[in-house]
Amino acid sequence: MNVNVAPNADVSQALDEAKANFAKANPNSGALFQKALPTMPGGNTRSGVYFDPYPLMFRRGEGARLWDEDGHSYVDFLGEATAGIYGHSHPVIRAAIDDRLALGWNLSGVTSLEAVQAQLIIDRFPSIERVRFVNSGTEANMFNIQLARVITGRPAVMGFQGCYHGGFLTFAAQSNPINVPYETVVATYNDIDGTAAMIDANAERIACLILEPMIGGGGCIPASVEFLAMLRERTKKHGIVLIFDEVMTSRLSPGGLQQKHGIIPDLTSLGKYIGGGFSAGAFGGKAEFLDRFDPRRGDALPHSGTYNNNVFTLSAGIAGLSKVYTKEAAVTLNAHGDALRNRLNAVCEKAGVALQFTGIGSMMAPHAMRGPITSPQDAARGNAKVRELMFFDLVAHGIFIMPKRDLIALSLPLTDKDFDTLVAGVEEFVSARKSLLQ
Ligand SMILES: Cc1ncc(COP(=O)(O)O)c(C=O)c1O
Repeated sequence: MNVNVAPNADVSQALDEAKANFAKANPNSGALFQKALPTMPGGNTRSGVYFDPYPLMFRRGEGARLWDEDGHSYVDFLGEATAGIYGHSHPVIRAAIDDRLALGWNLSGVTSLEAVQAQLIIDRFPSIERVRFVNSGTEANMFNIQLARVITGRPAVMGFQGCYHGGFLTFAAQSNPINVPYETVVATYNDIDGTAAMIDANAERIACLILEPMIGGGGCIPASVEFLAMLRERTKKHGIVLIFDEVMTSRLSPGGLQQKHGIIPDLTSLGKYIGGGFSAGAFGGKAEFLDRFDPRRGDALPHSGTYNNNVFTLSAGIAGLSKVYTKEAAVTLNAHGDALRNRLNAVCEKAGVALQFTGIGSMMAPHAMRGPITSPQDAARGNAKVRELMFFDLVAHGIFIMPKRDLIALSLPLTDKDFDTLVAGVEEFVSARKSLLQ
């Protein structure tokens, strides 16, 4: 790792140097970025993957490896922010796509694939009795929220600061001007008493309460089981629809965090890996709720979407859930994740630095701070610049994690040797940057 920084250099200076080294090492990515600037704002089409001074341009991926346009290779510890659980070229997924290619696509109607994938999902997630497919996690949340508003006849959506539910459904610390203009009630994550009081005070206007049972992209902050149990009890009491956004967390046990914690929501949103690595989303839950979409009913709600039954997404998704990310594989991958997080935290503890990794199973995130982290407000006290510096140092070490947020999401092709590589990368970061981690 190229980190020739004086021990007392401040973090801004270290970051500037890391970015300058990054630019020097990645001229082809820089040139391609310049080329993209006139046609797309910021030269990209997905805010979450942009970082300063410019994002790496990836050329290809195989297994758990990525190659950029300057010829560097990386161990991919981001795994497409949980969607890439199968890695970049899983042979079973590939075979499913090859088979599908031979049969044709855009078939203008219904296929047998939808019901197969529906059954696989229903077999996994305890809250889901019926399911419908969409194209993204954002859409899944939108449909669940709209369904809850219709069922209850109430207008407001309750959520938690720091939870992300899609491009226009965030309860982020900074208000999002392009959010859907719902009437909202926003509480503090894991605050049992404050949230209970807020639910009681606003119950008559709240249609649904939506949350990530572990905040994912916002720092892998788990909800406590007591907090989730309180939400279940209060929402039931007031006739509020409880929605778990398990777009990310559904991978954390065979049946998601709802199964792991034994707290069953009314509706669940899915996405990411559920489509085998292709654009995907699903929403589901109680039959009595979902059946409002049955077109044979006089009062049926519409549910349209040209690609809701995209044959590539369904074929890859079915192959993935039935043959690769089986219930057993989910248990194993999450056990690997717990072991890895423990090793990373042991490195930080041994060095006595202000750095820790939070998360559950195959999802984790670093925080440059000491002390407990139970809410985004806690996490905001961490040093974001140090985290950013860690990203650049790991990139220089051939490891790719999420820029800015530093999310780590394991994929199935990662090996023990890859886990050792990440532990060694973090060890080196901790030792090289110790003076900045106090
Ligand atoms: C918890 C959560 N909900 C919803 C979404 C939105 O999913 P998509 O990007 O597929 O629209 C994401 C995406 O990162 C997410 O992490």
